[in-house]
Amino acid sequence: MTPLIRVENIADYTEQEIRIRGWVYNRTRKGKLVFLLVRDGYGFVQCVAFKNDLPAETFEDIVRLTQESSVEITGIVRADSRSPGIPGGFEIGITGLKIYQIAADDYPMALKEHGVDFALDNRHLWLRMPSQWAILRIRATVLTAIREWLDTNGYINMDTPIITPAAAEGTTTLFETPYFDEGAAYLAQTGQLYNEANIFAFSKVYCLGPTFRAEKSKTRRHLTEFWMVEPEVAFCDLDELMEIEEQFVSHIVQRVLRDRQPELASLERDTTLLEKISPPFPRISYDEAVEMLARLREETDDPEEKELLAFEWGSDFGAPHEAALTKQFEKPVFVYGYPTAVKAFYMEPWPGRPEVCKSVDLLAPEGYGEIIGGSERISSPEKLLQRIQEHQLPEAAYQWYLELRRFGSVPHSGFGLGIERTVSWICGIHHIRETIPFPRTINRVYP
Ligand code: 4AD
Ligand code: MG
Repeated sequence: MTPLIRVENIADYTEQEIRIRGWVYNRTRKGKLVFLLVRDGYGFVQCVAFKNDLPAETFEDIVRLTQESSVEITGIVRADSRSPGIPGGFEIGITGLKIYQIAADDYPMALKEHGVDFALDNRHLWLRMPSQWAILRIRATVLTAIREWLDTNGYINMDTPIITPAAAEGTTTLFETPYFDEGAAYLAQTGQLYNEANIFAFSKVYCLGPTFRAEKSKTRRHLTEFWMVEPEVAFCDLDELMEIEEQFVSHIVQRVLRDRQPELASLERDTTLLEKISPPFPRISYDEAVEMLARLREETDDPEEKELLAFEWGSDFGAPHEAALTKQFEKPVFVYGYPTAVKAFYMEPWPGRPEVCKSVDLLAPEGYGEIIGGSERISSPEKLLQRIQEHQLPEAAYQWYLELRRFGSVPHSGFGLGIERTVSWICGIHHIRETIPFPRTINRVYP
């Protein structure tokens, strides 16, 4: 029986007869030649039908194929450097065809440029385009690399709840849901608080799953449902946390470079800077970052840029500030020691400087900005209670969390890496909405 192959492995079958199953992405005819660009889910490959080599009926069938028709093609693999496939360099000389369905001829995502709203309304079909296919294959590899690094470095996967009784990352972005006789419950903004319980049983843990924020911002970096991996580590301070993060992120990037070259090439991603990603990453304090911004503002002649870079000590950085900072470095840069007032309630205060906390964000280069937020956590029960009260959070809902600080409290730290922002950066794309199969934003829940 002729082997059924995956197009990603086509190089292993040069000069052999094979079968592929997939969909017609494009068809062009030049007299006695018909070129089909076929995608099988694993790649795209050009298949060539020559009239004189085929039974008349088969050739007629090939001529009838519309975009998205589902087919099984039998043919001989030939090396051809001009082939437009992904991976390129191969084509299939068709010897046989089986049609599953001739697709309806009013396919909405015909091969032309589409507006973003149209593409998003047709997300269920847009996924079939090479760009979207490449991005989501890279996303899958990012997730594989994440689990691979954590699983081999002593982290236990703990699945944390999605339905939660209280806020963890500020009360303004909570999705509320009625919860039987208990009143209101909230979709999880983070699994961190539960992982802080988990480390006292397992030492190093992580959760990896969807996270929900009722973000009212319409930026290219915000989704209302995004995926986050959150490692949490017992006996770990801020410096050790940064060491973990730089190893982790380097592994992810190097794994994608190793396994997803055809996809990166099809996205025309310049990987020069990605190839340089390895520990250590530069580290600057928030204070130094503020000085750097003041200097950049001083140096620019562009009045618009000057306006955008305006900044005062004590605020959180916006996208333009982060973009300007990351352009000063080739690698991701750590910014640590943010003002306590702009960060979450659970962060350990800086020793002798309570207006600053032991937080660290990792900003991705090339203007991408924050992909990780993390910190050392408050380990004293008194300090933590005080912060909960200052933030006017309902004490009763945090009883269990406070109790963690009474039975064997230790310095501990953790971070959350946003999957979609990381994929955007690695793929070099503009908007985060293309990095998740079905994006959820402030004005979109369809399809
Ligand atoms: O900085 P954040 O809010 O940190 C936390 O949630 C901590 N509890 C994590 C921890 O320490 N365990 O979010 C972490 C990361 C951000 O750096 C960003 O990459 C991503 O999650 N993120 C978003 N991604 C897409 N859309 C949004 N609305 C996001 N909000 C945060
Ligand atoms: Mg953050």
